[in-house]
Amino acid sequence: MFRQVRPQPQDITIYIDDRPCAARVGDLLANILLQEGMSAVHAAPNGTPRGPYCMMGVCFDCMVRLEDGRFEQACQTYAEDGLRIYLPVSVVDESGQ
Ligand code: FES
Repeated sequence: MFRQVRPQPQDITIYIDDRPCAARVGDLLANILLQEGMSAVHAAPNGTPRGPYCMMGVCFDCMVRLEDGRFEQACQTYAEDGLRIYLPVSVVDESGQ
């Protein structure tokens, strides 16, 4: 569903919930999440799964937690080698999907 138009060599590793994930310098975290099939990264107050949607910093549905505890919009944050992100609520794990 979500794929790169011109695939490039993957030269860095980021960690999503401590799982290594190959990426490229300059990739947006939201792109990486979608490429990894993670379309739901947290839950709305009513429990509805939410994930990257607008890809331009408007919807705030792509919030991820960085290793230092800050929350950032994945669609506005670039990947760096060794970066660790944590999904605020693993709705995917809880629902078994
Ligand atoms: S995808 Fe909408 S703010 Fe990031």
